[in-house]
Amino acid sequence: MGKTEFLRKDLMPAAEQAGYTTIYVSLWETKDDPESVLLDAIQQAAEGPGVLGAMRRRLARPGAKIGIGAHAATVGAHALWEQGTAEEPNRLLELRRWMDALAQKKKPTLLLVDEIQSLADEKRYGALVAALRSALDKHSDKIKAVFTGSSSDGLQRMFQKERAPLFQFSQQIPFPQMDRGFVQHMLTAFTHATQRKLDEEAAWQAFLALERVPEHFRTMMASMVQTGSTDIETALAQVKRGITEPANFSGKWRSLRPIDQAVLAILASGGRPYTEKSRQRIAKLLNGTASDVTPSIIQKSITRMRKQGLIAPTGNREYRIEDRVFYAWIRDGIDADRIATESGERKKDNCKDI
Ligand SMILES: Nc1ncnc2c1ncn2[C@@H]1O[C@H](COP(=O)(O)OP(=O)(O)OP(=O)(O)O)[C@@H](O)[C@H]1O
Ligand SMILES: [Mg+2]
Repeated sequence: MGKTEFLRKDLMPAAEQAGYTTIYVSLWETKDDPESVLLDAIQQAAEGPGVLGAMRRRLARPGAKIGIGAHAATVGAHALWEQGTAEEPNRLLELRRWMDALAQKKKPTLLLVDEIQSLADEKRYGALVAALRSALDKHSDKIKAVFTGSSSDGLQRMFQKERAPLFQFSQQIPFPQMDRGFVQHMLTAFTHATQRKLDEEAAWQAFLALERVPEHFRTMMASMVQTGSTDIETALAQVKRGITEPANFSGKWRSLRPIDQAVLAILASGGRPYTEKSRQRIAKLLNGTASDVTPSIIQKSITRMRKQGLIAPTGNREYRIEDRVFYAWIRDGIDADRIATESGERKKDNCKDI
């Protein structure tokens, strides 16, 4: 929690102060063509700021996005990969060259790549990841790197995958959740902006209700600043609606297979999916018998949901629901027997489904 903020506001200034050249790249907004973004950023750091040069290069590339609208961008990126195969080794050569150039500099470099999990699942980025890795290995004394991402499973896959063990010598640092200090900080800022005081305990409870996602809490506070309100309860309800409605949790839920719903229900209530007790519960949720719910059926469900980025392993055959708010939505719905109501008509056939 607060990874991007930490990279930009804490780590970058500290590194610059310590004499590093820093490069920050976020691959999230640039899903279509993360390679160019990474290359441009590294090249700019190696050459010094040359905005015009970078623009020219981008325009000169085949498949440069010349369409209009979101769909056009996707088409453009697709075209790039179809046409771009021959050019591909050149771009990786470029990466190597710029990394070499950076390593020649007097100052050491700190490369920060945010949302790196964008590269995790795409085979087509395998070569890029490998090139990045070998450059980092080669220049490990002069170029340091920090990779962050918001999908722990995506990151783990990148770290473990045999064909792309980018980060053999790396350390992984889980980000702790924000505590009361964050809420107090936001309340001070609120008072500063509005001359009003909010009740700290109520604000803390709201933060907990938002699953300690700082972004959501900030949205809530910002809306209270805007409307001049001090009514936390109303603002909280509004923010929650703002999260769950567009996220369409109930649609997402309905689109899941009953077995996946049942496994999620187990996870959301803090259970471990493979235990005998959980299997009985799953069977009960699906109106079947425990013998229907074999470990391999559970395993298939887990593999499927990991692929979709819904859940991530936390070690020891335990799993966590990645989206904290979806997790809370499921957890709060278990008592309301959401499995029965949301997929009611399928319920009696559920065991056939699995
Ligand atoms: N140390 C902090 N002090 C005060 N506010 C913070 C701090 N860290 C984060 N925030 C606030 O929380 C919000 C979310 O933080 P940030 O975007 O860094 O999270 P993230 O972990 O990168 O999230 P995502 O997984 O969505 O990328 C920011 O808008 C910022 O205002
Ligand atoms: Mg972020």
